[in-house]
Amino acid sequence: MTTSFTHDSRHLAESYERGSDLQFEGGKRLVERLGLEEGARVLDVGCGTGRLTRWIGERLGPRGSVVGIDPLEERIRIARAHGDAARFEVGQAEALGAFDDASFDVVCVSSVLHWVSDKAKALAEIRRVLRPGGRLGATTIPPELSAAGTVSLVLRPLLRRPPYAGRVDLSALGSGRRCTTTDLVSLVLESRLELVELHITQHASHHESGEAFLDFAEASSFGNLLRIVPDDLRASLRADLVSGFDALKGPDGVVVRGWGILFVATRT
Ligand SMILES: C[S@@+](CC[C@H](N)C(=O)[O-])C[C@H]1O[C@@H](n2cnc3c(N)ncnc32)[C@H](O)[C@@H]1O
Repeated sequence: MTTSFTHDSRHLAESYERGSDLQFEGGKRLVERLGLEEGARVLDVGCGTGRLTRWIGERLGPRGSVVGIDPLEERIRIARAHGDAARFEVGQAEALGAFDDASFDVVCVSSVLHWVSDKAKALAEIRRVLRPGGRLGATTIPPELSAAGTVSLVLRPLLRRPPYAGRVDLSALGSGRRCTTTDLVSLVLESRLELVELHITQHASHHESGEAFLDFAEASSFGNLLRIVPDDLRASLRADLVSGFDALKGPDGVVVRGWGILFVATRT
């Protein structure tokens, strides 16, 4: 199954803009490793509502420029409403035809690659638009470590029981398509980018309640999270997940831990 972009809504996009601190902080850590220079030309692929793109724009000085692209029109609409420090366009990683060869110094793909259906094509396009010596920075999810994260801890046992058992299709989630860290490294090398660094990182997000976490997860997955089960089971899965996360609530609220990959590659 390819990632569906049809389940997003204005409500989910606004909720992402308000609640995406986890991705924003992770994005800033990624950009800090890319050594942005004043005047750099940057492309932010899968920019969502553009929080990170705008932050990049503020660091480039008057000669620099940043463009954010995302397939979700509602998210681009919000990104554009924040002024003109950055340019925003609807678009996908696999089709960067709007941009000339070698037209960027840096391409940033923060918290996106696990959703990209054709990663080889996306990496080939990214390489094409990078100038020789330009850098790609990306963060994504290593599916081989998903079992060590809080979401799996709550979700997997639920899905093994009735009424969900036998009625689950994890491929509705980008991360359901298994592209392990090793697979990803192979794809980067096959696309003729040189891998400069790769880190496995742990992250944690804090939520007031199970409900608040589910709102965050649905906004982050642009409405795909509950699509792992058929229509008739969605309300019950949401309610079961809310209870499951509420059961983890402690003095710091509901703490959700997970693992990520951060890598930097360069076009030689
Ligand atoms: C978790 S959000 C991350 C947004 C932003 N980069 C951030 O850090 O806040 C994932 C984003 O990836 C975008 N996305 C999914 N598939 C994509 C693709 N093939 N090409 C570009 N963006 C894609 C989604 O539309 C969504 O906005």
